[in-house]
Amino acid sequence: MSSATVKAGDLFNVRDLVTIVTGGASGIGFAYAQVMAGNGARVTVLDRNPDGLAAAVKQLSADGGKVDGEIADVTDLAQLRRAVDAVAQRHGRIDVVFANVGISAGPGFLNMERRRDPQRAVENIAEDLWDRVIDTNLSSVFHTIQAVVPHMKAHGGRIVVTSSISATRVEQFVGTPYVVAKAGVAQLVRQVALELARYNIRVNAIAPGPCATNIGGGRLQDPANQAFFAQFAPQHRIAVPEDMQGAALFFASGASSHVTGAHIVIDGGVTLGVAD
Ligand SMILES: NC(=O)c1ccc[n+]([C@@H]2O[C@H](COP(=O)([O-])OP(=O)(O)OC[C@H]3O[C@@H](n4cnc5c(N)ncnc54)[C@H](O)[C@@H]3O)[C@@H](O)[C@H]2O)c1
Repeated sequence: MSSATVKAGDLFNVRDLVTIVTGGASGIGFAYAQVMAGNGARVTVLDRNPDGLAAAVKQLSADGGKVDGEIADVTDLAQLRRAVDAVAQRHGRIDVVFANVGISAGPGFLNMERRRDPQRAVENIAEDLWDRVIDTNLSSVFHTIQAVVPHMKAHGGRIVVTSSISATRVEQFVGTPYVVAKAGVAQLVRQVALELARYNIRVNAIAPGPCATNIGGGRLQDPANQAFFAQFAPQHRIAVPEDMQGAALFFASGASSHVTGAHIVIDGGVTLGVAD
């Protein structure tokens, strides 16, 4: 047994790790990019929104980060592969990928007044909404993993997927396609973690509860909506993106060296049930 005390800075060291964050121009992805870049990783923010991407890269660079941007829509396989390959070419390797892109499927079958919304009834969910949410929130994660694994097999890597508490429970206030996509993501994480463990590629997930970001047109930035969802949180608040940064650093660094196929739930206790 080693007698040397491990220092936190060494345990959570991500310096120079070549890192991609999909959907990194906003919200939770931006918080991942910020904590990685702020601790010396070489970060590529990948996003489909050119203005948001430019602003994110500018801010992270101004804060001293080694940061690049790649414009790509993760639902377009050719764009996704081109962007991932460009990062590998630029840096010679890929160490960490946050497969983070996700969109809202709109409110659930109950609206915020807890009334049934006929438009959101299961028989009325539009086919194109279903397809868009499954493509963006589930298939894109699969394709992101497919794109990065060939760059990781020789030397190992860490894949961190943004799941959701909706992956493991059903929801009145969250659209059905979203819940189903996230459930698929949770099983995808476990399945590929099993397969890739022998290559020293660890695959884990962060499962947030409601978090104040721009998702769903920014409805969780609205104080009334925040208060609504805070009722269900034993901590009496919803998350902010920075609440995700500790887990991001944990999964990206050697601190989680023997952890794979795991989910860290970050929800202020929402999944425990209502307290006071
Ligand atoms: N905010 C929450 O309450 C919450 C809760 C649980 C899980 N999540 C998950 O967190 C992840 C990040 O969401 P967020 O809340 O930070 O949202 P956000 O809207 O603030 O950020 C998402 C980013 O992804 C980008 N993006 C969207 N579709 C894309 C595509 N096809 N290709 C490339 N980029 C695309 C957007 O431009 C944006 O910059 C999602 O997977 C979401 O499901 C969010």
